[in-house]
Amino acid sequence: MLKILKNNELNGEVAVVVGTRPGIIKFSPVIRELEAQQVPYFIIHTGQHYSYNMDKQFFDDLELPTPRYTNDKVAKETYHGAQTAEMIRGVENALLDSKPKVVIVGGDANTNLAGALATRKLGIILAHMEAGLRSDDWRMPEEHNRIIIDHISEILFAPTDLCIENIKRDNVKGKIYKTGNTIVDAVMKNMELSKKKSNILDKIDIKKDKPYYLLTFHREENVDNEEILKCLIDNLKKVFNKIKARIIFPMHPRTKKRINEFQLNSKIKKISNLTIIEPVGYLDMLALMNNADMVFTDSGGIQEETCILQVPCITLRENTERPETVEVGANKIVGTDEKKMIDAMEYFNSLSEKRWNNPYGDGKASEKIVKVLSNVITGKDSVSID
Ligand code: UD1
Ligand code: UDP
Repeated sequence: MLKILKNNELNGEVAVVVGTRPGIIKFSPVIRELEAQQVPYFIIHTGQHYSYNMDKQFFDDLELPTPRYTNDKVAKETYHGAQTAEMIRGVENALLDSKPKVVIVGGDANTNLAGALATRKLGIILAHMEAGLRSDDWRMPEEHNRIIIDHISEILFAPTDLCIENIKRDNVKGKIYKTGNTIVDAVMKNMELSKKKSNILDKIDIKKDKPYYLLTFHREENVDNEEILKCLIDNLKKVFNKIKARIIFPMHPRTKKRINEFQLNSKIKKISNLTIIEPVGYLDMLALMNNADMVFTDSGGIQEETCILQVPCITLRENTERPETVEVGANKIVGTDEKKMIDAMEYFNSLSEKRWNNPYGDGKASEKIVKVLSNVITGKDSVSID
C-alpha cells in the first residue's frame, strides 16, 4: 500500500530544493530572508549540477549553508527521465527523513520538477517560485516542467502580472502571490560585493575604455542539434568578425561537451577577438554583465539580469518566457539569424540613452515569499489546490 505523510507527522520546517546554478542564485536571497525572519528551514540539493564551477562555487560566493541532503548519483544519468527519476528518489528520501511542512522549488529545470513531484506524492504543501512563465515553445523541457509544476503547486509565487495572466489562462488552481523576481534581490544584494571582490576584468585583461560583449549559450534547442549549433556559431562569427569589440564567452559544460562531440572547436576559434573562459562565480558574472556593452545569450536568468542592470540583451532564441524584458525595450529576440543579430546591435547602438523600467520588482521578492511561507507553517494562512 502506497503511503503519504499525515499532517500531524510534519514538523514546522521549510525545505528549499536547489540543484542548478540559476536555482542556487535565485534562492540565495530567500535563504538569507528565511534566516532574517527566523523561519526554520533546510536545503535539499538534487545533485543535478555538480561541477565546482556550476555548484559549490555559488555556495561559496553567496555564503550559503551546506545542504542537509545531496544526491550524488545524478551526474551519471544521460536521459531526462532517468535524471528526473533519480532526483525524485533523492528528494523523496530527504522528505521522508525530515518531514517538512512546506517545500519550495524555483524555476523550470528538471530539479524543480523532481522536487515538485516528490513533494506532491507525499502530500506535502508545494510552493513554486517563478510560477507562470511561459514560452509556448513545446520543444523546451523547461516549458513542460514549469507547466506541470504550476498545476501541482498549492502556492504560486508569480514575478509579474503577465505571469499571473498565464497561470489563470491555464486554469491553475493554487493560490497566487505576486512577488517580483528574487533575481532583483540577488543583483542588489551582491553588486557592491562584486565591485569590492571581483577581479575578473583584470584577470582576463579587459581594458576599461575598450568595449566588450558578453556571450553565453547552453540551451538544449541550440546546442544539442549539430546543424543548429553549426549555424549559430557560423552566424556569430559573421557578426562578431565585423566588429572590433572583444567577446567574452564563459562556456557552459553542456556547450563544451557538444562542441567537442560535433568537432566544432576549430570553427568557434575562427571568431576573432573571442575569449573562451570557464563558467565564473556570481560576483565575477555580475562584474562581467555590468561592464559589458551588450550581452548575447540564450539564458533565462541573464535576460532578467541585463534588464535590471540596464545592459542591452540580444537573445539567441526564437522566443522567450521573459517577454517583459522585450516590452520594456531591454531585449531583442533574434534566434540564430545573422541579420536579426545585426539589426538588434544597430538598434541598441542607435539609442542615445540605454534606460528602461525593471519589470521584476523592487528587490523585496524574498521578503514577500518568506512572509507567506512563515504564515503557512504557523497556520496563519491556509492553502489548498481546490
Ligand atoms: C539545466 C536546465 C536548464 C538550465 C540550466 C542552467 C533542465 C532540463 N535544464 O540545463 O533549464 O538553464 O540547467 O545552467 O533541467 N554538466 C557538467 N557539470 C555540471 C552540470 C552539467 O559537466 O555541473 C554537463 C554534463 O555533461 C551534463 C550536461 O552538462 O550532462 C547537461 O547538464 P543538465 O543539468 O542535464 O542540463 P543543463 O544543460 O545544465
Ligand atoms: N551565471 C554565472 N556564471 C556564468 C554564467 C552564468 O554566475 O558563467 C549566472 C547568471 O548570471 C544567472 C545564472 O547564472 O544568474 C543563469 O544561469 P544559466 O544561464 O545557466 O541558466 P538559466 O537562467 O538559463 O536557466
